[in-house]
Amino acid sequence: MNMSDQRAVSPHVLIFPLPLQGPVNCMLKLAELLCLSKIQVTFLNTQQIQERLRINSAGADVYFKRYPNFRFETVPDGLPEDNPRTGDQIGHLLESMDAVAVPIFRGMVTSGGEYGPGSENQVTCIIADGIFTFAAGIAAEIGVPLLYFDTISPCGLWTYLCLPELIEAGEFPFKDDNLDEMIRNAPGMEGIIRRRDLPSFYRTNDVNDRIIQLVLKEDKHIPLAQGLIFNTFQELEAPILAQMLSVCPNIYAVGPLHAHLKTRLAAETCPGVQPTTSCNSIRREDSSCISWLDAQPSKSVIYVSIGSVAMITTDQLFEIWHGLVNSGSRFLWVRRPGSVTGLDPETTKEIPSELSLGTKERGYIVSWAPQEEVLAHPAIGGFLTHSGWNSTLESIVEGKPMICWPYFVDQQVNSRYVGEVWKLGLDMKDTCDRVVVEKMIREVMELRKNEFLQRADEMAKLAKASVSEGGSSYADLDRLILDIKFMKI
Ligand code: UDX
Repeated sequence: MNMSDQRAVSPHVLIFPLPLQGPVNCMLKLAELLCLSKIQVTFLNTQQIQERLRINSAGADVYFKRYPNFRFETVPDGLPEDNPRTGDQIGHLLESMDAVAVPIFRGMVTSGGEYGPGSENQVTCIIADGIFTFAAGIAAEIGVPLLYFDTISPCGLWTYLCLPELIEAGEFPFKDDNLDEMIRNAPGMEGIIRRRDLPSFYRTNDVNDRIIQLVLKEDKHIPLAQGLIFNTFQELEAPILAQMLSVCPNIYAVGPLHAHLKTRLAAETCPGVQPTTSCNSIRREDSSCISWLDAQPSKSVIYVSIGSVAMITTDQLFEIWHGLVNSGSRFLWVRRPGSVTGLDPETTKEIPSELSLGTKERGYIVSWAPQEEVLAHPAIGGFLTHSGWNSTLESIVEGKPMICWPYFVDQQVNSRYVGEVWKLGLDMKDTCDRVVVEKMIREVMELRKNEFLQRADEMAKLAKASVSEGGSSYADLDRLILDIKFMKI
């Protein structure tokens, strides 16, 4: 045995997120939590995400100042600089990363690489997004444990993992157009999930569809990991997490991560001092909306956002706009630049005067908001959301009822659970009609306000308890930290 074999290798995790706002955000929160526990973390971003973090949130500086055991590394994603990297292009992003980023990542962690076996900075554990199937082979090759962190919801991931069963049972592809047909071969979801509640890309007749093949590939690779990390908590998703044990017996439910980080940072700071959490935004936040919210009555404003990658057509935008104005509710609306398919609505359609007037009187529009702060604001009474998993959890923690208008991936499943299982709001999927938008806003903000707020408040308490000392997510994070510290390589 040579000297390097005898050297005690200190725990060093390499985290590789899917380069989208939601996944990067919660993976960075996990990275901070590991850093707080004195674990060395290398965070592998694409150059494009890293640059946008640098410009928009000074994210890198905060991490470097706060954690000497943290470092960023970057890889190119292989796409041209001006590629919009929107949700409808996700397949291209993954293909491009496979061709360009993966070989560089491999070079980093295999023999001779900066983080390879025997090097001073040797990685002892890889945490990768569940969609990164390449990570399983590379981790096995270098003999390092791999933990998949699927940043979508466990209920969403479960519909991926059930896909082979759905195909075998003849439930997928769907035999006809009836999207209200109940799904029978997704254990634990009987009586809950209809065809329309499965990820929207299941609405294809072609098993060889590119995204379907990606899901099936992910299904094969997930069980190869030594553990699965989820941004959820037992009290929310216990039945699904129990099902998940059949795929991987080692599960860590450590969420909601943004709330968890606040708890652990608070324990490190002086009593009474609110910890400052890092901003992980890859877009410039417009904080002027907070002053506007300060001037609004309690629980009077509906917050509207479709997240970082979802797209909307011009017609849908106008239906939502009419619904918002007609509801009479005050609203704060994030209109992300580039999120409207086709041409800019401002130039293609004349804006009816009632919309301009109603917006001026009761509305406020920004291109990107400090969302966690917005949802925590007392003036917010509800959230019209695309049901991205981070947005859903952020809303749950702040006890804000939701109106769900899902776009893709896990969002169709999340919105069903919000409406039908957790009873935290209404599911508007597959409709975008001004009358429905108005009706749902009135229900959440007026007619059934107390019912939804009470339910949301109960769930918020459970979420916060789970990340407090003695809570389920708190215990799972402690277990994850211990496991990482004692991982054998
Ligand atoms: C993607 C997937 O599409 C989604 O299905 C999956 O659940 C997570 O990743 P994304 O649009 O990034 O979705 O949604 P979400 O998970 O909700 O994350 C968006 C993040 O951006 C949230 O953390 C939210 O706080 C933040 N955000 C959004 C802002 O900070 N400001 C805004 O104005 C809007």
